[in-house]
Amino acid sequence: MLTITCASLAGGQGKTTTATLLGRYLARCGRRVLMVDADPQASLTFYLNWEEFPQAPTLLEVLRQQVPPHQGIYPISAHLSLMPASDALDEAQVFLADSGMGATVLKRRLQTIQQKFDVCVIDAPPQRSQVCLTALGAAQEVLIPAEASSKGVNSMMRTLDLINRLQQDGGCEGQVTGVIPFRDRWIGRTQASQSRRSVEIMREQAAPAPLLPSMLESEQFKKAMDLGTTLSEIGYPDLEHPLTVVVDILQRKYLWPMP
Ligand SMILES: Nc1ncnc2c1ncn2[C@@H]1O[C@H](COP(=O)(O)OP(=O)(O)OP(=O)(O)O)[C@@H](O)[C@H]1O
Ligand SMILES: [Mg+2]
Repeated sequence: MLTITCASLAGGQGKTTTATLLGRYLARCGRRVLMVDADPQASLTFYLNWEEFPQAPTLLEVLRQQVPPHQGIYPISAHLSLMPASDALDEAQVFLADSGMGATVLKRRLQTIQQKFDVCVIDAPPQRSQVCLTALGAAQEVLIPAEASSKGVNSMMRTLDLINRLQQDGGCEGQVTGVIPFRDRWIGRTQASQSRRSVEIMREQAAPAPLLPSMLESEQFKKAMDLGTTLSEIGYPDLEHPLTVVVDILQRKYLWPMP
């Protein structure tokens, strides 16, 4: 199982959008996908339409080892499963901090289900919290979506800086797959000046991490998310380009057999 974490240290940078659409895209390609909602806001859980029921174990119970990981996983659709989150995930912060090895907890929990899935996609929270650290600690690949704006540039820099420091301390063995500019704005064939400036700075500052193709500013992303489908299925395969590039990179790097 290849584990990919979507992380970016500011709100609204496209983490949940990227994680959800990448997970659905991979499932559509026939990969067995596990989505892990590692954000107490539980947006991924919401978008995957998971119906909570009383006492249902979530990521919190899995992290605390109150249940084995497979008991916190629920089928969503063919090839797609979810380890959900709820508000209560905040309670994991103290547990992870006290454990002294918080960064490796999620990675260790996921080990027992390695054979059941081809890919695990983790949606990280926007804060540099213990849950964020364990989400990065579990990653082999990290995708950094960052808004094509000065806020996005800042989010990208803070995220790369955190990953660098974690890599030096052994808290993250993952590599940065790349930075995805998010909500890149074009008017016809002209890129908005703020988007152009921000994307240029991202390209310079992200190096040696690659800058991947942008997710364009478009209502269609929200529509695909709300309908629980992919961009291709609502007639916008071109908008899926950044996801196809990510999957191509991973396919070559990990020599995935074609589904
Ligand atoms: N391509 C797009 N163009 C414009 N808006 C978009 C696009 N994709 C997603 N959005 C909207 O941008 C907002 C932020 O996206 P998203 O929730 O993925 O960010 P996030 O990084 O997960 O946020 P948070 O830090 O709060 O978890 C959402 O309201 C979403 O509907
Ligand atoms: Mg989110």
